[in-house]
Amino acid sequence: MFYTVIGTQWGDEGKGKIVDWLSSKADWVVRFQGGNNAGHTIKVDSNIYKLNLLPSGIIRNKKCIIGNGVVLDPWALIEEILKLNHQGIVINKKNLFIAENICLILPIHKILDEINEKSRGSELIGTTKKGIGPAYEDKVGRRAIRLCDLKYPNLLNEKLDNLMNFHKLKLDNYKFDIDLNKIFEDLKLIGEKILQFSSPVWKLVNEAGEKGKLILFEGAQGSLLDVDFGTYPYVTSSNTSSGQIFSGSGFGIKHNHIVLGITKAYTTRVGSGPFVTELNNSIGEHLGIKGKEFGTVTKRKRRCGWFDAVLVKQSVKISGVTNLILTKLDVLDEIEEIKICKGYKINNQIYDYFPFDEYLQNKIEPIYETFPGWKSSTFGLTSWDNLPENAKKYINILEKLIGVKISVISTGPDRSETIDKSNLLDDI
Ligand code: GDP
Ligand code: IMO
Ligand code: MG
Repeated sequence: MFYTVIGTQWGDEGKGKIVDWLSSKADWVVRFQGGNNAGHTIKVDSNIYKLNLLPSGIIRNKKCIIGNGVVLDPWALIEEILKLNHQGIVINKKNLFIAENICLILPIHKILDEINEKSRGSELIGTTKKGIGPAYEDKVGRRAIRLCDLKYPNLLNEKLDNLMNFHKLKLDNYKFDIDLNKIFEDLKLIGEKILQFSSPVWKLVNEAGEKGKLILFEGAQGSLLDVDFGTYPYVTSSNTSSGQIFSGSGFGIKHNHIVLGITKAYTTRVGSGPFVTELNNSIGEHLGIKGKEFGTVTKRKRRCGWFDAVLVKQSVKISGVTNLILTKLDVLDEIEEIKICKGYKINNQIYDYFPFDEYLQNKIEPIYETFPGWKSSTFGLTSWDNLPENAKKYINILEKLIGVKISVISTGPDRSETIDKSNLLDDI
């Protein structure tokens, strides 16, 4: 059996916590898209681990893969490895494998990210400025530098020259002076550190599958940030939906695959773009404070709002989600009345989906249903029976509206603060 964890909203749904929880049963954990724009926080007793590039399975010393669908900032990787080493996590050739054909994020990509944002004026995306978009542009433009290129200084030099020539005009225009020789020397040095992890991961992951190993694919971001299916152009530059696991790792399509959609009990978003159920009031503030909704990567305040069942239902369909995992239920504990958006009204017409047309998006009026809150603590609960009746009702309504079973409920950041309603972990 194979498992995929996917965010069903705009990211930060608690994927890291859930991947760590599931990893106790996994043999391999695989990242297949995104880059160090991701920020996955894992709490184990009093230890907090913050991961950007490394699969969350590294905390439990599982075999971890960074697949070709990821864009890799090699300097950020080394920094992350050192940080985790200081926290007692061992990372070596036995537990980390990086696709040899992975495309690299270079310092110029971060500069280009800044320039691109600046040139959008007030329409800025609000990117993490990690160079993700420009690195993917170079990948698709067939001029990227890949991990395997670091083995050959002459080839690397040629490729760097070609890349810089392509971007020169733009960089000159914004008066950025790039020291090409320094990038070349730095890349050679970083190559000495990371080439040890370079592997044909498509082969490893398929062989593991053939041997019946449990493979867990760890999504970054969320379905609504998907470059095709998200709230374009306010999205990231990769496909975040489950379809990407195959081309982002080289794993051949299989039938026996459980897709776990991670969904927060409310909604958050970092950066610009439409957010129909956003709460610009004291309830939104309360959710932000109680839920500690500040970005792991950029420390920005996350925008908060009610649960949008229309969006989650759409994500569930697009990613073929088989089970939902509801996180941060405890953040709603003190709310008097809770709303769920169950449909949209646009120009007096009812919509049961989020249209791609930006003109229509700006006219969406949410249709809410209101439920009484439970006004008692669910923090840290581990059994369904101990949940307050109104919390159970809220979860049952969400399940009905979305049409997929909510198998697990998270009631706190720690791996132990989890209700495994349908014995998902035991059944693995
Ligand atoms: P990810 O990007 O999807 O992995 O999510 P983040 O780690 O960016 O953000 C989720 C935050 O919520 C982290 O700080 C987690 O420790 C925390 N968290 C996860 N699940 C729960 C939960 O059920 N309750 C509370 N209060 N916090 C949680
Ligand atoms: P995890 O994995 C939340 C958002 C950025 C911005 C948009 C584009 O922690 O859930 P980018 O730097 O990717 O070009 O920025 O995407 N974004 C995220 N928001 N969680 C994330 O990752 C995100 N990764 C990117 O805020 O709006
Ligand atoms: Mg995050």
